[in-house]
Amino acid sequence: MNNPNKTDSRTDDKHRAEYERLRALTENRLASYFPEILPGSQPEPVPELCRAMRYSLMAGGKRVRPVLALLFCAACDGDENAALDAACGIECLHTYSLIHDDLPAMDDDELRRGKPSNHIVFGEWLAILAGDALQAKAFELVASAPLPPERVVKMLSELARAAGERGICGGQELDMAAEKRGAGEAELYKIHLMKTSSLIEAAAKIGTLAAGGGEKQLFAAEEYARAVGLAFQIRDDMLDASSDSAALGKPAGSDKKNGKTTFLTLFGHKRCGELVAKETERAKAALRPAFGAESRGALEWLADELAGREL
Ligand code: IPE
Ligand code: IPE
Ligand code: MG
Ligand code: MG
Ligand code: MG
Repeated sequence: MNNPNKTDSRTDDKHRAEYERLRALTENRLASYFPEILPGSQPEPVPELCRAMRYSLMAGGKRVRPVLALLFCAACDGDENAALDAACGIECLHTYSLIHDDLPAMDDDELRRGKPSNHIVFGEWLAILAGDALQAKAFELVASAPLPPERVVKMLSELARAAGERGICGGQELDMAAEKRGAGEAELYKIHLMKTSSLIEAAAKIGTLAAGGGEKQLFAAEEYARAVGLAFQIRDDMLDASSDSAALGKPAGSDKKNGKTTFLTLFGHKRCGELVAKETERAKAALRPAFGAESRGALEWLADELAGREL
């Protein structure tokens, strides 16, 4: 990620390095769940399902959600090692949502994370199962967190809410239904909050819960994440129209192809830029009542960075 609108470059470098460290930590832990299987190195054939799960999970991705969880954990003075499996679980659930989002019955996109989409490589039924199994893996990983059971139960409940009919699935339903009938401003906010903000919100709250954060911190995490999620999806809608597939690693112009109503179709590029900036400021302001300047720094930097992202 690269945002040209930055001021204090030394502080930025520090936050960027921390993001990179947490991204690498996540990447390594994810790889440990699905080690690469070389031909002939296994006595038993590896189920194709596991290959399909690994393929999309390890295809790259910014790892925004697990890093966000770990940053909130750090902001609440938590133990990142105890939160790491839960953070990776969130990335498994996100990856499942992308596999299903690309299916012919949904957005029908053939490129994801710079590689052919899961169903292009493995076929539709295996891609559906790989998504299903990654969703189950997400809950397995959060449940395995070495933390007090009452915290883990709350973390699981956050993830379930984000995944289900009030979160990703409900938002994806409305997004698909709006292809035919269109959507107004209020419904579009609702769609974005459900399909995108909900998992970002779960990531922020799961990181906070893992650290034993209190009500004030949870509320700030929720408000921050809702606004970051809105800005993230508006930016995604802008990039779909203004960038190219090679840069994005997914097909540019997908929304137009599918006749989606997006923030871009409703408001145009300039107003969308203003809305991203507004939600980003709202996100940063939400942190102030609950976190000191030192612990807010990385989260403020991330909100700005995502607002200016090019992929
Ligand atoms: C893509 O999410 C789906 C949206 C919610 C816009 P990301 O932009 O985080 O995708 P990856 O994980 O980096 O591939
Ligand atoms: C977000 O919407 C998808 C999910 C919540 C899974 P998009 O359909 O815009 O995401 P991309 O652009 O395909 O990544
Ligand atoms: Mg979609
Ligand atoms: Mg899509
Ligand atoms: Mg998109």
